[in-house]
Amino acid sequence: MKKLSFLILMTVMMNVFLSAQDIQLPAPDKTGGKPLMQALSERKTTREFRQDKDLPLTTLSNLLWAANGFNRPDKRTAPTANNRQELELYIAVRDGLYFYDAKNHKLKLVKKGDYRKNTGMQDFVGDASLNVIFVSDLSKATSRHFALIDCGFVSQNIYLFCASEGLNTVVRGSFDKDELGKLLNLPSNQEVLLTQSVGYPK
Ligand SMILES: Cc1cc2nc3c(=O)[nH]c(=O)nc-3n(C[C@H](O)[C@H](O)[C@H](O)COP(=O)(O)O)c2cc1C
Repeated sequence: MKKLSFLILMTVMMNVFLSAQDIQLPAPDKTGGKPLMQALSERKTTREFRQDKDLPLTTLSNLLWAANGFNRPDKRTAPTANNRQELELYIAVRDGLYFYDAKNHKLKLVKKGDYRKNTGMQDFVGDASLNVIFVSDLSKATSRHFALIDCGFVSQNIYLFCASEGLNTVVRGSFDKDELGKLLNLPSNQEVLLTQSVGYPK
């Protein structure tokens, strides 16, 4: 009985810890998924999301690694012009805003609270389990032109991952750049260039 109570207490403490603090993501599964040609044939934009279903941590881990994780000691799943690696991802989920620390495959809490709907202007945005915010360090990038192109590769990685996993997604250029910059407390050299919603089909 004592052992069971201890286990329950530990589980509750772990959940509190995981929901309130930084989150170490589980190692991504780099072997699964649909064949590439099938994922390409199923890639599409969808703007409807189930409101009541969040992404499990394992799916979030795989998605973020696929999007812009390190697939070699010093390089990532998406290319960048001159290997500047100026693009970083933030995510808005039900319990908070997080920075994706790709090197350590970890989520770092930026702010607690549900800011999903603040990441866009369309009605479905707040329904999506996850909204990805693409932040570019323009002082690192070769140019603004290349920084924008670099975003496209990461977005397509997310599209293909979603096609493979049966998730809905839409990349979005419509968002309030200033509001998001303030929300994330970005320094003047960093800018939000793109957003993308992900979630389960209705
Ligand atoms: C750079 C870019 C910005 C986009 N911005 C939005 C947006 O703000 N809102 C939206 O609903 N769709 C947006 N889209 C999605 C496009 O409307 C969509 O890709 C297009 O209709 C083609 O559909 P498909 O992706 O299914 O091929 C954007 C797409 C791109 C590439």
